[in-house]
Amino acid sequence: MAYKIEVVVGSLRRESFNKQLAHALAKLASSDFEFSFLDIGSLPLYSQDYDADFPDVAKALKARVEAANGLLFVTPEYNRSMPGVLKNALDWGSRPWGANSWKDKPAAVCGISVGATGTALSQQHLRNVLAYLDVPTLGQPEIFLKHTDSFFDAHGGIANDDTRKFLTTFVQRFEAWVKRHASTK
Ligand code: FNR
Repeated sequence: MAYKIEVVVGSLRRESFNKQLAHALAKLASSDFEFSFLDIGSLPLYSQDYDADFPDVAKALKARVEAANGLLFVTPEYNRSMPGVLKNALDWGSRPWGANSWKDKPAAVCGISVGATGTALSQQHLRNVLAYLDVPTLGQPEIFLKHTDSFFDAHGGIANDDTRKFLTTFVQRFEAWVKRHASTK
């Protein structure tokens, strides 16, 4: 069986380090895992007024999430929390009331920033929201990365051997987490 993973990157920046990290993580995964990237930048700002009639872009996001076997969140930290664009996507997927698309999707969170805290607070806030949304989220290993000019190699991989090994362990733990939840369905 191929496992479908939807990747949610919390940055819309063209050269986003988190987007690069997400692609590097996908390269470390087993061949039975397929990664696709959700487009959260096309979503309008959520309002409850939409609940009676969701726009197609939001319906499409919900359908993709519901068809996924797992979710990988890769996000920067904005002002000691997750970026608004990511919270907006979580809000869209959680509605209308009673139709929470995120529910029971096994997930993992990670992120990279230019600051020394390595997205720790962003991830902590994200974990809080995911817990409320009934998303079982991998606890360990936690991934807090600080970007440097030599973080990625020329091919978009992880340049440092120890960091690459650590991130490979993270991906393997995530895969096991997804398989464990798939087997209980
Ligand atoms: C930041 N940045 C940042 N970094 C951090 O470590 N902690 C923080 O609280 C913040 N706050 C913050 C707010 C806003 C509005 C911006 C634009 C940036 C810096 C951030 O780590 C850096 O811009 C990253 O490059 C953002 O990730 P992407 O876009 O490269 O994936």
